[in-house]
Amino acid sequence: MSNRWNTGLNWSDVTPERHWLNRRALLAGAAGAGALALAGAAEARIAAKPSPYSTDAAPNTLEDITGYNNFYEFGYDKSDPARHAGGLTIAPWSVKIDGLVDKPGDYALDDLTKGIALEERIYRFRCVEAWSMVIPWIGFPLAALLDRVGVQPGAKYVAFESLARPDEMPGVKAGLLDWPYREGLRIDEAMNPLTILATGLYGEAMPRQNGAPIRLVVPWKYGFKSAKSLVRISLTDTQPRTTWQGLQPREYGFYANVNPEVDHPRWSQASERRIGGGLFAKRVDTIKFNGYGEYVASLYAGQDLAKDY
Ligand code: MTE
Repeated sequence: MSNRWNTGLNWSDVTPERHWLNRRALLAGAAGAGALALAGAAEARIAAKPSPYSTDAAPNTLEDITGYNNFYEFGYDKSDPARHAGGLTIAPWSVKIDGLVDKPGDYALDDLTKGIALEERIYRFRCVEAWSMVIPWIGFPLAALLDRVGVQPGAKYVAFESLARPDEMPGVKAGLLDWPYREGLRIDEAMNPLTILATGLYGEAMPRQNGAPIRLVVPWKYGFKSAKSLVRISLTDTQPRTTWQGLQPREYGFYANVNPEVDHPRWSQASERRIGGGLFAKRVDTIKFNGYGEYVASLYAGQDLAKDY
């Protein structure tokens, strides 16, 4: 596929070496085992083929991607996930798949993903608060997994649930939200090839603060569609209620498409701040569907996106 997202560049071509080195140091620090972990991380690089869906924008640094997060299970502050997620137990891990599927069950993560090819996809990732990053994800199409478990004809939506483990998640313990964190997609959105389940970034297994060991990424939606540390995927015939709708139904709708023409009640959606450029970084114009319109605009033909926000 040739398009403006595909220049044939690999992320390593556009990532200064110092970021690689910092990345190693960061991962080693997170593992808390110094030089040994450093060697281990180098060996453990995930083999993934580059995806034609990648953007050619330069990725953010690993420091930005792992240091400025929303993961309310660990607290409200952007630095809380990096501070508090280190103790999260991510192995063993299983995902319950239920509802309108042929093969429901509790799937061990390895079984679930066995034989599904991993891809490296550099996606623009935008948050509802109008900041954005460019992230080199490792993942695979959600559709590959849904095909494996067999979606029944009556399934119209997919509901996602994140882990809620009070012992290891201070924000869950403190009752910051109505846990577990919930998200949802319409089935055609879920089956779109842009929608991935990500298991890593920057060539390594997913850092905990970014939603280890497996999280959703829907690049034409706001980041809050991207539920982290997934433990349940349910196929339903009715629209699932998301955490954000539950909190502020007038501010957050089910669709959450990035739409610069429709302002959020408390701020403009017309531009975004790319993290990493410093406090005075120039804002960039937000593009409808986060720039992925050629792949997804047709999903919403005939819908009024000001109403279906
Ligand atoms: N998933 C869970 N379980 N809990 C959260 O608080 N926050 C969402 C989304 N997924 C969130 C979540 C929001 S608002 C954003 S912007 C992205 O995760 C942030 O992802 P990142 O920290 O990897 O950049």
